[in-house]
Amino acid sequence: MSTPTETPSRTALTTLRELPSNVWNSIFRNPLPSTDLERASTSFTNFFLHIHPVKVNRNTLRPVYTLGLGLISVFLFLILAVTGVLLMFYYVPSTTQAYDRMLDLRGTVAFGIFLRNMHRWSAHGMVAIVFLHMCRVFFTGAYKKPREFNWVLGVLLLLVTLFLSFTGYLLPWDQLAFWAITVGTSIAGYAPLVGKQIQFVLLGDTTVGQEALLRFYVLHVAVLPTLLVLLMAVHFWRIRKDGGLSRPEKAAEKAVDKAPAAPEAGVVKLKKVYGLQGFVRGPFTKVGNVPDDSVYGWPNLLMAELFVFVLTVSVILVVSLAFGAPLEQPVNVMHPPNPAKAPWYFLGLQELVSYSAFWGGIGIPGLMVAMLFLVPYIDRTTHGVGRWFAKERLLANTIFLTLVILNIIFIVIGTFFRGPNWTFVSPF
Ligand code: HEM
Repeated sequence: MSTPTETPSRTALTTLRELPSNVWNSIFRNPLPSTDLERASTSFTNFFLHIHPVKVNRNTLRPVYTLGLGLISVFLFLILAVTGVLLMFYYVPSTTQAYDRMLDLRGTVAFGIFLRNMHRWSAHGMVAIVFLHMCRVFFTGAYKKPREFNWVLGVLLLLVTLFLSFTGYLLPWDQLAFWAITVGTSIAGYAPLVGKQIQFVLLGDTTVGQEALLRFYVLHVAVLPTLLVLLMAVHFWRIRKDGGLSRPEKAAEKAVDKAPAAPEAGVVKLKKVYGLQGFVRGPFTKVGNVPDDSVYGWPNLLMAELFVFVLTVSVILVVSLAFGAPLEQPVNVMHPPNPAKAPWYFLGLQELVSYSAFWGGIGIPGLMVAMLFLVPYIDRTTHGVGRWFAKERLLANTIFLTLVILNIIFIVIGTFFRGPNWTFVSPF
């Protein structure tokens, strides 16, 4: 601010000199925090940070607990969104142009091939990592009360992720894409009564052609990403509302649960804890002598996230430099490859379809998805939460692990051990 004695030229000079700091301070209202109060205030007032809790339990930051898999899924999605938008500048969803545009990416667009590699490998990575994240949640019993609904949201996220990857598979319009989607959508056609209708709605026709390409494109670039972002937002919001990530019961909390119903004078019954922003479950924001096993989100959580981000981006960059995304011959509807294979994550189903069209195409996948949705409502026990493979959960973990291994075995058989006419071949 200029004083009345300052000359106009001095005022202009001061304004100019203070311009950078004034702009900076108008955006970042708080200085870099150095006290606990400032750390809390930074998380609380910053638009991008306020999705984070002010404090997190130490267990949340243990890499061996979450393995960072949920975060890696988020970052892979971010890479996919950025590279996907850049690819949209070149791609045309037309059966006469799509393949040529792929060749252009290889030949004429600067970094085009690299962009496509990043998009392709992140997409495969995301399918695998989201699946592993689900396994982590199951094996730590983190789907139990009060996180049942977040598990359900997770199952929806898994399905949307699979569908996003599947719709993207068709877009290069090469032999691999065309026949994988032909096989994949014919699996949907095995559903009783409505199978053919579902297939028709998906393809916009009776076979894979221009209508299917346009539908898959719109689903892939607009409908499904929007749905995924919405589901993710609710998923993260629920994590906060459920009192942060699951964690093992601490001795102190156990003691609290065993406390008599009418505590003696001076003994705090710690079942309900009140914090500045209302109620929270568990000893996060605390009053009184609640044992506090939490640390500030800034900088602890933020640094952990930054580390996972850098790791994810680095791995994708290295993989994209080392391996090219496949591009086969342009579509030839008269010459199906033998065997024509679905995308790898559906190869387990394709393998099952070779034994029974109904059970492989609809019966078993339908049952699996229904079971996944119902898991937290069937398993109502509350013990063994927050620990990997807790012995109290031996039965549930054994059943889940068996199904996961079976799924992987079928995928491996479909990928490596099936040759022409789906006969058994040795990959060696
Ligand atoms: C696009 C897919 C997904 C994204 C981006 C995502 C993201 C996340 C993140 C960042 C976390 C916290 C950190 C962590 O646990 O690693 C989390 C926790 C959680 N996720 Fe997911 N998730 C996805 C899919 C799923 C799936 C498929 C399931 C289960 C079917 C699931 C169920 C849960 C549950 C129950 C929690 C809380 C875990 C706990 O309290 O320990 N999520 N998710």
